[in-house]
Amino acid sequence: RVGRPLVVAIDGPSGSGKSSVSKEVARRLRVAYLDTGAMYRAVAWDCLEKGIDLTDGALVEAAARALELELSTSPDHERVLVRGTDATDAIRDPRISASVSAVATNLGVRDELIRRQRALISEHGRRIVVEGRDITTVVAPDAEVRLLLTASEEARLRRRGAQLGGTQSDEQLAQQVLERDAKDSAVASFTRAADGVYTVDSSDLDFEQTVTAVLGVVHAVVDGR
Ligand code: DC
Repeated sequence: RVGRPLVVAIDGPSGSGKSSVSKEVARRLRVAYLDTGAMYRAVAWDCLEKGIDLTDGALVEAAARALELELSTSPDHERVLVRGTDATDAIRDPRISASVSAVATNLGVRDELIRRQRALISEHGRRIVVEGRDITTVVAPDAEVRLLLTASEEARLRRRGAQLGGTQSDEQLAQQVLERDAKDSAVASFTRAADGVYTVDSSDLDFEQTVTAVLGVVHAVVDGR
């Protein structure tokens, strides 16, 4: 936890390789890692477990405020505990992916999770990679490094298809990815970089090249200060 503050804020759409790249960047920089999407997923999971109707905004907000959440901030060890129950895998379930935007569009939920995200950044001595949709603009606009990781629609469809092991038709994939984008963009604008935010387009880069490009931005900023 020693060293100068180094908050690396990374936003981007699903399928840009954001999570795997952010984790690897945190490892190489030897700093903590925070997946803010996991927090929205944890709220959705908790509500579904409790039988809370996700369209009931007041109840969902109350659930978020009361959420007993423990999140690992190690890039090597993903772990999400809700009320002491391991929900690491459960929050990745398609059932959660399909319903989480109802949670993410709830402004009370956002207020609560943003507050917790800022607290976690402080707790880690501001040495952390934070990824999400509104990190560069809302959660940590004061981050040392702010970066938008993009990828063409085509590249994102290709990756998503590979992730699912080719089990879905092209139409199904396109529908899922584009629907997700449309729902997510109702929440936070992540398709265009805000002022002072660097863009890394991963469309024609493999994993290693993308990590190198992100680290290049980090070093350019850090070495220049
Ligand atoms: O990145 P993900 O698929 O795990 O994100 C889950 C949901 O949470 C998705 O609907 C986008 C939303 N999200 C958000 O609104 N703000 C964030 N900082 C992170 C995720």
